[in-house]
Amino acid sequence: MRARIVGTGSSLPKLRVSNDDLGKIMDTSDEWIRSRTGIQARHLAVEETTTSMSVAAARQALVQAGMEPQELDLIIAATVSADHIVPPLSCEVQRELGASRAAAFDLGAACSGFLFALNTAQVYIQSGMYQKILIIGAETLSKLMDWSDRSTCVLFGDGAGAAVVCADEDGIYAGVQGSDGAKGMVLACGGRPLEHPFVSGEPGHPYVQMDGQAVYKFAVRTVPACISQALEQAGTAPEEISLFLLHQANQRIIEAVAKRLKQPIEKFPVCLAECGNLSAASVPVLLDYVNRGHKLSNGDKIVLAGFGAGLTWGAAVLSW
Ligand code: ACO
Repeated sequence: MRARIVGTGSSLPKLRVSNDDLGKIMDTSDEWIRSRTGIQARHLAVEETTTSMSVAAARQALVQAGMEPQELDLIIAATVSADHIVPPLSCEVQRELGASRAAAFDLGAACSGFLFALNTAQVYIQSGMYQKILIIGAETLSKLMDWSDRSTCVLFGDGAGAAVVCADEDGIYAGVQGSDGAKGMVLACGGRPLEHPFVSGEPGHPYVQMDGQAVYKFAVRTVPACISQALEQAGTAPEEISLFLLHQANQRIIEAVAKRLKQPIEKFPVCLAECGNLSAASVPVLLDYVNRGHKLSNGDKIVLAGFGAGLTWGAAVLSW
């Protein structure tokens, strides 16, 4: 059996903040952000939470799948910005949906999180342990940004995407993933310091810090290699792929990957202009836009690919 995506959903906060809006509160400009990244706006949570956006996205995915929450066997939430350290986001979603039969856990692989979750779902389904799984990628990254650091805060946004996957004859044909912890500090966010009556730890930097050029080099080298590996595993040529849905970090990275794979840029849809970088949420949000925009037909072969902090990367080849 394979894991097949049978429903998608997405949710962004109401507040839309354009590059010009940011230009009014910090030393930046639409020209700088747009020309280097392709980003024009992002949505930032005000009343929304990582849980509320995840639940909204999950409900849409379940409706499209024609499934009740009680039918779910498992919920996997990929996030680095859950509302609480505990309970996990997945358990909060389970509570809100009333998905009482499901087991639920969170998975932390940063911007590759949705791909790691999808590959995990595939393995559970192949093993026969579960048949109906809800996967979520959700972030409220605005709370992890240093809003006085213009080099990072302009890049990210908040949002959630979800997919329901079911056991089927057709679906995921290949899934690859990898990590390079040795280079992890090029994109990092500190945790809580060790603090108890016997020690007072040094606080780490509590916000996202990034060596942008190192991340760029990593992405343009690793993502095409990872996609090629997945295609080879699936026995599929790049020309057979209708759409490549990549993590939405930066237009220039997407263009470089298209060039290295020798595929037309039209096969690489984007949503980063309107959303910014949504980390684990970017692939499922883009997938939902493409799905609801009727850009996918039954039997189309597509590639999903994520890359980011860790460093981590992952890709999947699937039949729609
Ligand atoms: N507005 C205006 N000027 C800015 C801004 C800003 N928001 N941010 C930085 N600058 C300035 C810098 O201060 C610097 O000025 P200086 O030359 O006077 O010192 C200048 O712009 C150039 O800064 P760089 O950091 O060298 O900018 P670069 O051209 O490398 O672009 C970027 C930065 C877009 C992040 C680039 O490195 C990149 O594309 N990185 C790829 C990685 C990426 O997109 N990461 C996103 C998240 S990671 C992920 O999802 C995997």
